Amino acid sequence: MATERTFSILKPDATERNLTGAINAVIEEAGLRIVAQRRIRMSDAQAKKFYEVHAERPFYGELVSFMTSGPVVVQVLEGENAVAKYRGVMGATNPAQADEGTIRKRFAKSVGENSVHGSDSAENAAIEIKQFFDDKDIVG
Ligand code: CMP
Repeated sequence: MATERTFSILKPDATERNLTGAINAVIEEAGLRIVAQRRIRMSDAQAKKFYEVHAERPFYGELVSFMTSGPVVVQVLEGENAVAKYRGVMGATNPAQADEGTIRKRFAKSVGENSVHGSDSAENAAIEIKQFFDDKDIVG
């Protein structure tokens, strides 16, 4: 499997509890390299666009308001099989179903406030990365 990139967000529940360093340590220990990173306050328009695939879901409004409720850290992670590797490191969306040692098992508060986002495919990773980073800001 070739080196690939995935897109990550450390969500407001993580920044609020000062967990960015602890989560980055788990990411790096898994062999993923943080090749771009920025702390931002997501706008309502950015959050709505980012999660537009979920627009018809009952939790969409709650999701957008949570993602704009505080700072987030957007990241590009690089490594062998990065998309699948990061999904393994994050654990299941619902922390109650996440494996021991995963980020969500260790840190997430609920299915909504679940500390991290990671792309679900290499194709979506490329789309998501473009929403937050220019190529020149990614230093591999
Ligand atoms: P994420 O990987 O960022 O992508 C979509 C998000 O929707 C997901 O993580 C969850 O945080 C959120 N989500 C999924 N199901 C629910 C739910 N039932 N209630 C609130 N948020 C949800």
